[in-house]
Amino acid sequence: VTSRLFTFVGGETGPWRVESARAVLGAPLSFVTHLDVVPGAVRIPPPEAAWLLRGVTSNERYVTRREKEVLAARQPATGRPEAVCAALILLRKSAAWWSLTQDERRSIFEERSRHIQIGLEALPAVARRLHHCRDLGDAEPFDFLTWFEFAPTDAGIFDALTEQLRASEEWTFVDRETEIRLVRDRVVG
Ligand code: HEM
Repeated sequence: VTSRLFTFVGGETGPWRVESARAVLGAPLSFVTHLDVVPGAVRIPPPEAAWLLRGVTSNERYVTRREKEVLAARQPATGRPEAVCAALILLRKSAAWWSLTQDERRSIFEERSRHIQIGLEALPAVARRLHHCRDLGDAEPFDFLTWFEFAPTDAGIFDALTEQLRASEEWTFVDRETEIRLVRDRVVG
């Protein structure tokens, strides 16, 4: 699992400086000034770290072949030099969501909420990486850690995207959400 694991370390160090942090729904995280995004596990956290969140990238659950191809043709990679803005959005979905079947979830996710169609409008401005937490155990505070990178001039595209998604039926199943906005202080890696 290690190669798909990422650890987000909130504290006082790291290349990403926190511009704002907001609990959209549910309990907030403790406030930090910086974030480090570490590929793999962090065995010994920095002493000043306030929190560590872990997630794994995974196989896709919902995309159709056609959607997968359209996404692949349009989506940029993370780490673009001009994409110095980032957002870490932490989400948990309710027990009601997890009790649905796969086809019921797909229907809410795309046929009724148009998550992929809305998301495509933000490409190629916004790069993204989705991390899953549920399969790491029962102690994880969120189900998903979602990571986005974009240039400062594209911040409006990102804001419009989150506004539309939050108004969707899919989001009625979100029961905890925190958004952290960041700026890269120095080149990563
Ligand atoms: C940049 C534009 C975006 C695109 C193109 C996009 C696309 C996608 C796609 C294709 C999936 C399904 C992956 C699968 O098949 O398993 C997905 C899942 C997901 N996305 Fe997005 N997305 C975007 C923006 C966002 C934003 C802004 C958020 C958070 C506010 C978000 C949160 C999620 C979550 C939590 C999932 C997992 C849903 C679940 O498995 O229940 N996405 N996204």
